[in-house]
Amino acid sequence: MNPQRIAVLGGSGFVGRAVCERLARRSPAGAIVVPTRQAMHANAVRALPTIDVRVADVHNDAALRGVLAGCDAVINLVAILHGSAEAFRRVHVGLPQRLAAACAALGIRRVLHVSALGVGDNAPSNYLRSKTAGEAALRAAALDLTVLRPSVIFGAQDQFLNLFARLQAFAPVMPLAHGDARFQPVWVEDVAEAIVRCLDTPATIGQTLECVGPDVVTLADLVRLAGRWSGHPRPIVPLPAALGHLQALLMECLPGQPLMSRDNLASMRTPNVSTRALPGLESLGIAPAALARIAPGYLGRSDGRTKLDALRAAARRD
Ligand SMILES: NC(=O)c1ccc[n+]([C@@H]2O[C@H](COP(=O)([O-])OP(=O)(O)OC[C@H]3O[C@@H](n4cnc5c(N)ncnc54)[C@H](OP(=O)(O)O)[C@@H]3O)[C@@H](O)[C@H]2O)c1
Repeated sequence: MNPQRIAVLGGSGFVGRAVCERLARRSPAGAIVVPTRQAMHANAVRALPTIDVRVADVHNDAALRGVLAGCDAVINLVAILHGSAEAFRRVHVGLPQRLAAACAALGIRRVLHVSALGVGDNAPSNYLRSKTAGEAALRAAALDLTVLRPSVIFGAQDQFLNLFARLQAFAPVMPLAHGDARFQPVWVEDVAEAIVRCLDTPATIGQTLECVGPDVVTLADLVRLAGRWSGHPRPIVPLPAALGHLQALLMECLPGQPLMSRDNLASMRTPNVSTRALPGLESLGIAPAALARIAPGYLGRSDGRTKLDALRAAARRD
């Protein structure tokens, strides 16, 4: 039987909102529980009819159990992109450990955990190594676990194509380190659909799925496309690794979330593309959308070339 009451940790985030929209369409009122650190972070999902938003600290065992009580499945989307090694461990390892303990205490078996492509014990960044350890913590527990590993995720509210587009709206050139880093961008709606299908598909228990789109692109390609599709194409100035490192260090010193950190740069040393050794979205019956079919629509100006890109992609003739 499909899960009846589901906790979505990180349900207020970019992927979480798309997951909650899908779950809300088919669930009775209160059947989807979304914890948040701050009520206003979850405004978008609170507007959905069946979502029960709770302000709770998921790093507190009692609070986490309060959120999970009565649930028969959990989706874990909580993550950070920037922070100290300690912060990565707390969020990416400590929380999965707490989650495993809470599930054991409450008799919850079904867990879907969103990790990241590029994980591995020898991964080059704190982000990826902590994600690796988080997966391992959940695998070591007696759970009906499915792990999803997406490449970089695009969608109307993404944090990378929109950022590259915004930067090009005012910067005359785009200084870029690691422009040859490879990605296989995947649409947020395809990732959300995959999560919901996994929930409904017991055969995915024990599986690790790679979530990638049809296009392998470099970081420089992504910057170029974001510039073109937003109507502000700027020349890219390749930065040597040392200067890129310095640029990231300076960004880390600015107030607020950095646009780029040294740890992000380190992550790019490993290709963010499918290994093809694991099942992908196709195994769930999903034909992932191409970047050029979706991104021009939300990045702004729709000029002739952009429309052509979108049409080519729709016809798969690019
Ligand atoms: N976006 C991508 O390109 C991408 C690529 C590969 C993998 N992924 C993975 O996909 C999953 C979802 O990513 P996303 O882009 O949707 O992330 P997101 O938008 O940043 O959302 C993260 C969620 O985690 C919660 N959160 C953040 N820091 C927290 C902390 N310190 N303690 C507790 N909760 C915290 C936030 O909830 P509140 O603020 O409401 O508390 C938020 O809802 C993550 O596992 C991520 O690593 C994402």
